[in-house]
Amino acid sequence: METMNETSFETLVENFLGTGFPRHLSGTICLTELPPDTQDFILRLLYLMKRSKYCVSGFNPVLIRWLSATIPSILPGAWGGRIPPITVPGRHRKLDNYVAGQNFLPDRGQNIFVDIGCGFPPVTTVDTACRFPDWQICGVDRSFADYVLSDTAGHYACFNQEGEFLYFQAFSDLAGRALYADPEGTKNRFSQLFEDLFPLLQNRDPLSSETVEKDGNKLIHNHIMDFETDNLRFIKSDLMDLGPMTAKVIRCMNVFIYFTRDKKKRMLGHIKDHLKTNGLLIIGTNSFDIQYRYAVYQKKNDDLFVREFAFSLDNLGHIPFMPWFTIHEDDPEAILLAKLTGTIRSAPSFWTPFTRHLDQLLEYHGFCKRKIDGFLHFPEKEMLPNDFLEKNALLWKGMQGKGYMGGAVDVLGKAGYDAWINSAGDIAVRPPVGDLVS
Ligand SMILES: C[S@@+](CC[C@H](N)C(=O)[O-])C[C@H]1O[C@@H](n2cnc3c(N)ncnc32)[C@H](O)[C@@H]1O
Repeated sequence: METMNETSFETLVENFLGTGFPRHLSGTICLTELPPDTQDFILRLLYLMKRSKYCVSGFNPVLIRWLSATIPSILPGAWGGRIPPITVPGRHRKLDNYVAGQNFLPDRGQNIFVDIGCGFPPVTTVDTACRFPDWQICGVDRSFADYVLSDTAGHYACFNQEGEFLYFQAFSDLAGRALYADPEGTKNRFSQLFEDLFPLLQNRDPLSSETVEKDGNKLIHNHIMDFETDNLRFIKSDLMDLGPMTAKVIRCMNVFIYFTRDKKKRMLGHIKDHLKTNGLLIIGTNSFDIQYRYAVYQKKNDDLFVREFAFSLDNLGHIPFMPWFTIHEDDPEAILLAKLTGTIRSAPSFWTPFTRHLDQLLEYHGFCKRKIDGFLHFPEKEMLPNDFLEKNALLWKGMQGKGYMGGAVDVLGKAGYDAWINSAGDIAVRPPVGDLVS
């Protein structure tokens, strides 16, 4: 891989993607000021962009801000090397649709769904338990924080049994961004609030939860217990130490990405033992119910087979970020996604109308406008996160309505892939042998 040394970001981008880095974005990233793990991240991003035929003219302020501000604050390096419990409600809605769309053969016993590495607070597991009231849902994570502290604005921080600060999650609005911009100050602020609120706890009973409040700030001990219901329970365990399960479905989203290929192989071996015959395992990466990539495995004859690899159409956009999100160099799902999207971008009969239409919708919904210089220009006033997600959903609904899903499937079919639209409404292929961990 290329080294950073004295190379500027613009030169590096041009080395990978060809000349023509947008002049108006020059100087917006200084590589040497970024933490080493973010610098490595950028090299992996450029490698994936090149493989997926992403055009240098696609570089835009959203991507630049994500690289320079968001990425350094979410990689494990920002959390003392720990895997952060990042999650958001509604994040896996489509995967719940996928499961609902399966014709499972009837078998004996309760349907069990296990969400491994469910994150904390375990909001996506709660979503799934509401979606499937007749199933038993189980959330597993190796670290459920002992204490959660939320401030008056709703930003929250997690602390362990000893009161040590572990993690904070803020909204991605301007106030939230200010917290990420000053992680040490934010940690001190939350730690001070913890010290103020901790003495108000009366019981700290290990078998129940307890909440105290002061000036609108709230501290909860054993918050995980507040989420348990008749069909939802939680187990604090590393997946490698998990007691026996007989799950019909196991979901493991945004977890495998943190591990090397060898470790993933060992993890798969363990997960397999917790699945029923014909049971499904879904492993992948996504963001706020957008920009999905995932593999679906099925257990047959006591072995796991990759049934499909799927991705959402929005991975083909100009401003998405998740297709480039990796933690390790050899991320098989990210590489396969880059290969497939590269194939699609190389088909002019699909790509030319797709990109023209996408530009029109980006402008119509107020995201940005492609100007005469060929680059995407964004309005001065930034879109608020909720507005962004709402308009983004409308934009991609519009693109899907124009038949681009079928078009992408056709391109992949002509390139030799067995491709289709799956029950989550994503583009699926039978992955070539050896492309994914199995
Ligand atoms: C980024 S969060 C993902 C949360 C949720 N699955 C989602 O997609 O929103 C990753 C979670 O995986 C957990 N985790 C990582 N490795 C694990 C392991 N080996 N066993 C159990 N949990 C693990 C971490 O503690 C963390 O809470």
